[in-house]
Amino acid sequence: MIDLAVRVAGVQLRNPVVAAAGTCGYVDELADVLDPARLGAIVTKSITRAPRTGHPPWRLITVEGGMLNAVGLANVGLEKFLVEMLPAAAGLDTVLIGSIAGNSIDDYVTVASAFDQEDRLPLVELNVSCPNTDDGLVFGENPARLAELLGEVRPALGGTGMLVKLSPNVGDIVAMADAAVGAGADGLTLINTVAAMAIDVEQRRSRLGGGGRGVPAAPGPGHGQKPSGPATAAGGLSGPAIHPIAVKMVHDVSVSVAKPADVPIIGLGGVMTWQDAAEFILAGATAVGMGTALFVDPRLPEAVVKGLRAWVKRQGCASVGELVGKLEH
Ligand SMILES: Cc1cc2nc3c(=O)[nH]c(=O)nc-3n(C[C@H](O)[C@H](O)[C@H](O)COP(=O)(O)O)c2cc1C
Repeated sequence: MIDLAVRVAGVQLRNPVVAAAGTCGYVDELADVLDPARLGAIVTKSITRAPRTGHPPWRLITVEGGMLNAVGLANVGLEKFLVEMLPAAAGLDTVLIGSIAGNSIDDYVTVASAFDQEDRLPLVELNVSCPNTDDGLVFGENPARLAELLGEVRPALGGTGMLVKLSPNVGDIVAMADAAVGAGADGLTLINTVAAMAIDVEQRRSRLGGGGRGVPAAPGPGHGQKPSGPATAAGGLSGPAIHPIAVKMVHDVSVSVAKPADVPIIGLGGVMTWQDAAEFILAGATAVGMGTALFVDPRLPEAVVKGLRAWVKRQGCASVGELVGKLEH
């Protein structure tokens, strides 16, 4: 009998496969197409203190090797989430992880305090890494600012486990991981989407409708029609194209920060197959997220769990935990 159960920040997941933030709505939507009992955990879409309408269309487009999104953290806000969405998801037979986003320390603390009151949310994940809002990276790109944020959020969470989701759009992700663990992170999720852009060459416009991180279009020969136009819409790349980037980041963070501190990693980015998931586990991830894959086929996580079970057996192990970080050098 192969044991696929893993522990993340003190919480037992029945297997290592986690449905990623923002890719299964407010959670219960996914239950229409995939039995939640097949998953280790499901992360909610990021919830902010106030409702957010997000960016104008197009918010989601396909590109070679994955997709680009500029959703802009659209969500119903904390109050409606607690009154309507969480009760609808509460009966699901899996671990629920509440994702939190915000523009200020106060925003995060408010949502964190509310989530701490909810028994159905034993873990929260702080999204400090969304690249598609103008302000979404304020905490995620500077170690001192991140430590300051976590220093306030950690006490607000009481006994709730605090996962911190890191952005790949930084010079040194190991420094960010180090700051997060130093400030009390009980686990790390990496990576969020990679900042990216796609252009409609006939229209000479971004293919995305909105989204922050582009640079305002410069006036100049052939580009002078909108000299003071808005920042060029950019978004976040997800899917197979980012998988090898994520594997290296998980590996580097595991070796330098997570393993020495005994902090679990949820490896995330482009997992479509059990082999992708196994790579993350060998690189040092305790659990593995799947996001874009759910848009391709929401049942892919089941195939990943099945493939992992057979792989663990072939490796001569009794549990998946024995293979975490067991990359040969
Ligand atoms: C449509 C869409 C919406 C997302 N929304 C969120 C979100 O609300 N919060 C968050 O932390 N990450 C969000 N993400 C990022 C994913 O959770 C994940 O980090 C990223 O897509 C990489 O994993 P993947 O390649 O398996 O999709 C979103 C991704 C997509 C594609």
